[in-house]
Amino acid sequence: MGQDSNETKTKRKRGGRSKEKKSTEKVVTTEEQKKQQQQQGNGSNPSKKKKSQEFCPFGNYKNYYGYRISNDMDEDPRLKVLKKEWFQGKDCLDIGCNSGVMTIHIGKKKFGCRSILGVDIDSSLIEVARWRLRNFIRTQNQGEKKTAAADGSKEQSLPLSDGSSSETKDLFQIVSFQKENFVHTRNPDENRYDTILCLSVTKWVHLNWGDDGLITLFSKIWRLLNPGGIFVMEPQPWKSYEKNRRVSETTAMNYRNIVLRPEHFQNILLDKIGFRTVEDLTSSLSGVSKGFDRQVLVFQK
Ligand SMILES: C[S@@+](CC[C@H](N)C(=O)[O-])C[C@H]1O[C@@H](n2cnc3c(N)ncnc32)[C@H](O)[C@@H]1O
Repeated sequence: MGQDSNETKTKRKRGGRSKEKKSTEKVVTTEEQKKQQQQQGNGSNPSKKKKSQEFCPFGNYKNYYGYRISNDMDEDPRLKVLKKEWFQGKDCLDIGCNSGVMTIHIGKKKFGCRSILGVDIDSSLIEVARWRLRNFIRTQNQGEKKTAAADGSKEQSLPLSDGSSSETKDLFQIVSFQKENFVHTRNPDENRYDTILCLSVTKWVHLNWGDDGLITLFSKIWRLLNPGGIFVMEPQPWKSYEKNRRVSETTAMNYRNIVLRPEHFQNILLDKIGFRTVEDLTSSLSGVSKGFDRQVLVFQK
């Protein structure tokens, strides 16, 4: 990180307290929320689900990458600003991995990480992520077999003994997924990581578990990182909280009580949590879809 010319040095301003907001908005009742969550978890007929954010109280959108990555994009624009040195030969964690698109990309040869674990609170998304990984590997293998057959080499076109090429076999060993509520379940004595990603997740933790949940998230990340480790965060701006505040009674209540605003996160991570430096990658991001032009910050422990 030190090599980078646009590295932002630690700015030591303390964030001010924000006024609590009064809210009279209608909230989704606990009964409604239960029904919605049951539908989500039990794999009920998706055609009957309303296309509404109220079914996704944790930002657990089923077609998230459908909104984020438009057809004219070759890949998620965030991948272009991530530096290989943060991943190559490293153990990585992707918190709130959704259906695993970013996690699998980072697991590929281009970034060369040693391992990457994607965790998400939503078990159905973890299933999709595992399916996506298997599907990617199968497609790769088929492509390689076709190429080998086109080359006319009988030997090459035969599958390897376990039916996979060495690269895709590696990918199975590198990438894994696990259902987990990161705020509640992770024991800090567990594995350590060199790089942790938390992309577009802070708002959901904040709305569901309030300021305490957010601080728990940041503290756990810090404890799970090896010395010198990297934390890549894409926080959602405060204005976007308003849109989602009514997804449940809990989020509506927490929204009213939130004091720490996203614009304070940088100082919290530096002054209170203990990260040494921060680098702002936002200016290098280009071509993001409308509504996803968010800050991307990289902290070093
Ligand atoms: C808006 S998506 C972002 C997906 C992905 N990180 C990206 O940016 O491409 C937020 C994800 O965070 C997950 N999430 C929210 N709270 C979580 C928690 N406490 N623990 C683990 N995952 C969580 C949601 O289920 C959802 O898949």
